[in-house]
Amino acid sequence: MISTLLSRQQRGPDGAPAPRLLFGADYNPEQWPREVWEEDVRLMREAGVNVVSLAIFSWARIQPGPDAWDFAWLDEVMDLLHENGVGVDLATATASPPPWLTTAHPEILPVTDRGETLWPGARQHWRPTSPVFREHALRLVREMATRYAGHPALVAWHVNNELGCHNVYDYSDDAARAFRDWLRARYGTLDALNHAWGTAFWSQRYSDWEQLLPPRLAASHPNPTQQLDFKRFSSDALKDHLRAERAVLREVTPGVPVTTNFMVMPGTKGMNYADWAGEVDFVANDHYVVPSPQDRDELSFSANLTSGIAGGRPWFLMEHSTSAVNWQPVNLAKRPGELARDSLTHVAHGADAVCFFQWRQSAAGAEKYHSAMVPHAGADSDLFRAVTALGDTLKTLAPVAGSEREPAGVGILFDWESWWASEQDSHPTSLLDYHQEALDWYSALLALGIRADVVTTGTDLSRHRVLIAPVLHLVPAELAKDLTRYAEQGGHLVTTYFSGVVDENDHVWLGGYPGALRDLLGIRVEEFGPLPAGRTVALDDAGTGGLWTDHITVTAPETEVLARYRTGTYAGHPAVTRRPTGSGSAAYVSTRLGADGLASLLPRLLEPAGVVSELPAEVRGSVEATVRRGPGGRFLFLVNRTDEAVTVPGLAGEVLVGGTDADGAVALAPRDVAVLRTPTG
Ligand code: GAL
Repeated sequence: MISTLLSRQQRGPDGAPAPRLLFGADYNPEQWPREVWEEDVRLMREAGVNVVSLAIFSWARIQPGPDAWDFAWLDEVMDLLHENGVGVDLATATASPPPWLTTAHPEILPVTDRGETLWPGARQHWRPTSPVFREHALRLVREMATRYAGHPALVAWHVNNELGCHNVYDYSDDAARAFRDWLRARYGTLDALNHAWGTAFWSQRYSDWEQLLPPRLAASHPNPTQQLDFKRFSSDALKDHLRAERAVLREVTPGVPVTTNFMVMPGTKGMNYADWAGEVDFVANDHYVVPSPQDRDELSFSANLTSGIAGGRPWFLMEHSTSAVNWQPVNLAKRPGELARDSLTHVAHGADAVCFFQWRQSAAGAEKYHSAMVPHAGADSDLFRAVTALGDTLKTLAPVAGSEREPAGVGILFDWESWWASEQDSHPTSLLDYHQEALDWYSALLALGIRADVVTTGTDLSRHRVLIAPVLHLVPAELAKDLTRYAEQGGHLVTTYFSGVVDENDHVWLGGYPGALRDLLGIRVEEFGPLPAGRTVALDDAGTGGLWTDHITVTAPETEVLARYRTGTYAGHPAVTRRPTGSGSAAYVSTRLGADGLASLLPRLLEPAGVVSELPAEVRGSVEATVRRGPGGRFLFLVNRTDEAVTVPGLAGEVLVGGTDADGAVALAPRDVAVLRTPTG
């Protein structure tokens, strides 16, 4: 789908759509005088740019007043791009309401849990549930769709922009009304709601729907199920906006694919993208590197999870940065090689389009220090040369376009509901970090050179011989059954501390932890043993644990103890267990071992499934390997994770990208990427 988006414009020699990787950026020509546009398209051609996202923040320019429309400039840009072979992912332009609208209708502005209004002056200052905003936004969408329905540059619709980036949680009266409707639809009766919310506690029983509110600033911890439902509702409210815009687009321009850019990153947990994926014609994602010792592991994890959300099919990298961003305390420039490596890591995990924020670095505005494809220095710059080199590489990789990910032996289960529920307040510890735990398992597998697929709940679990489900805190009865069946039928489940503890209403599964998974795991925990910050416990033979411990009693005779606590309150008691069941097993890791500790434990956990690295021993940990497979072949991506040169011997295949040494081994420069193709049978 993505690789043939441009096919209406560009066909192969035989007239058939020519699949290709897409390359481009957000393009904001309204920030520049007309003469710059000519230079823009010339440089786009030079760089190999074939797609841009246009009009994302153009509402005030397109509709300068309630009944005033100015499309002339946009018509000209659309034409110019088309004449230069650049397709347009056209935004609906609804992301940032113009001043005339917020002045006339301040009731569209979002409100925080403290009752503060978020005023205009930045962007995305709209309530997802405001009927007034919705009406104005959909009017704009209809105008845009009608105007550009037949334009040959139009290849896809880009709904709004990063829905929920700044406005995911709105506590306004509109939100309260919509939350009540959502709760009615979920529970049907107040009795069902009172049961689910556990309102017998603290005298919270509701006797009328009108009494229900979002979890606004309260005297103490708001009701946990109310908080969890508000998270679900807030994600759904944005999804509903996406659907509303999409409905107009599909009506006016049937056949033009519709997407919106997700933000699969640790800090953006408010939107349940696994749940949104079915709403778009192709998945698109934005990713920015936040410097940390695991930052490139996190990039790879995000790309991998995006692929999981997309069901293993190709997806569209809508934004990342060529170099520094502007929104961190210190904004680091990328080092030589990182621009290409970061981009190609996304491609390695299924991206069929590589786009940046933004094409030309702004001279004014809040993002003027954010890097772009054409920097302030202009085209005579190392950065623009790196951009054009990447454009060339992506042309070479055209055969990869359309290929899907080849399932890996190991799956890591990423579950939004557990992410939300496990990090709520008034828990055994406030230090638990769901995403970090999942990332640590991923880093450990990278260190061992073992491929893993990050997958979301509801996907076919049986694809993976090993399924790691870190902090799977919220386990409805059905999921417990699925996991039990998975293990009995030969899968090897691995889960961790604080898993299986609550059901979908955030009610504890009684009788001992890990509640819903207790029988499957063959263990029982009577009390949690969280650790103070900085405190660790030693395990015999499995490193050092932090954050959490459990007092485990083994309840099934067949449960094996793989490691015990050597120090701490539970010294001598089990720390890591595994219960064989059916033709599979279920293992439990009761403490936070971190990436290094997990890397030493993992070989024992993977051993019953026979999962081992596919890489030569000498490069495991230095090189990340991923595999995409399609009609054009099987593509092995090798990403050098290190700042040293690495040689990878013993691999067969045609080298599409990268070099070889005198012995024919793949030679990777520091931070380099190689791609090998072998025919598919
Ligand atoms: C994204 C956004 C872009 C730009 C970028 C900067 O959140 O969609 O418009 O602001 O971040 O990193």
